Amino acid sequence: MNQTTKISRLSNDNSSINVQWEDGQISNFNYLWLRDNCPCDIDVHPTARERRFNLIDVSENIKPKSYKINIDGKLEIKWDEGDHISSFDQKWLRNHCYTINNNKEYCSPYKLWDNSLDLSKVTIDCSEIMDSEEGLINWLEILNQFGIAIVKNAPTENNSGLKVINKISHVRETFFGTPFEVIDIPNPNNSAYTAGKLHNHTDLPYYEYAPGYQFLHCLINEVDGGMSSIVDGFKVSDFLRNNNPEVFDTLVNTYVKFKNNDFTQETIRFFHAPLITLNKDKDYNDIRFSVSTMGIIDCGPKDVEKFYKAYRKFAGLLHSEDYSVKFRLNKGDIFSFNNRRTVHGRTKYNPNSGHRHLQGYYLDRDEILGKLNYLKKIEL
Ligand code: OGA
Ligand code: ZN
Repeated sequence: MNQTTKISRLSNDNSSINVQWEDGQISNFNYLWLRDNCPCDIDVHPTARERRFNLIDVSENIKPKSYKINIDGKLEIKWDEGDHISSFDQKWLRNHCYTINNNKEYCSPYKLWDNSLDLSKVTIDCSEIMDSEEGLINWLEILNQFGIAIVKNAPTENNSGLKVINKISHVRETFFGTPFEVIDIPNPNNSAYTAGKLHNHTDLPYYEYAPGYQFLHCLINEVDGGMSSIVDGFKVSDFLRNNNPEVFDTLVNTYVKFKNNDFTQETIRFFHAPLITLNKDKDYNDIRFSVSTMGIIDCGPKDVEKFYKAYRKFAGLLHSEDYSVKFRLNKGDIFSFNNRRTVHGRTKYNPNSGHRHLQGYYLDRDEILGKLNYLKKIEL
């Protein structure tokens, strides 16, 4: 963001004020946009920081009676309606200029990775998170950029992961409870609560919005087997986009059903979504993938064959050695990951060989990004 550039010339036309900046850039500020974004306390509640002004209270033809740079260096506009004056900080105008901002090339926050990921790059000690803001920012940055972080040396008492996770925010509740207990139990209502193998998956894809992040806190892991795996679904999607666009398009465009109706629930949950979705900048938004909770495919007859071809290709890559990072969770680790980007799994383990107990927590993606934005003091 440019902090210092000043306005060198102002002019106007029928619908906007045009600004020429000292560095030669040009901005166009539409009158309705300017009126709508008046920052005064009458129009914006000073503590709620929410707009009180309602645009329909002025006509669509509102325009300045006069405008100038005032003695405080602000762009001051006297409006021809409502006897109102708006003053805009130059730096604010520059940072929010929709002309300049829309000409900037989109820059993805994501660092994509495959099986060559060096886990030490995404490992952080729990004490850093608990004792310093830098440590917390570091954890959040790693989660946002890589979608995976391993916290080391966390306490191992029951429920102690919550204190660490609450450094970020409140958790996302689900019917599995907080924390959910990942142990081998009789009559499980989830495949994770067995000693069986878990194919790489995202959790809870049958929710309209699946939990953004997941935290698996290892209290004890003394069993034979039970190795963890994780794959960057965005990296796999990127491979398909570049090398197999037909498969990629099918995955982005086919709505797939996911469902939960386990025996403990007096609820039947299902939701249709593509396996890959994109955001407004065509960057990766989320991945949904779960062999165990995918429902019965109900796309149209002409799409079935195409879908299964694409699905098999995607599934193959999401389980391939080239993309899988494998490791063993140890007592005191908090395996943290973006549940709408990565797929995670584990090998089967021998429940008679010792104890294995993970406690799981979910957090919405808004909480990770919101905290990071706050700590980095981003300007809105
Ligand atoms: C889960 C899960 C992995 C493991 O609980 O969602 O995938 O290692 N667990 O037990
Ligand atoms: Zn899982």
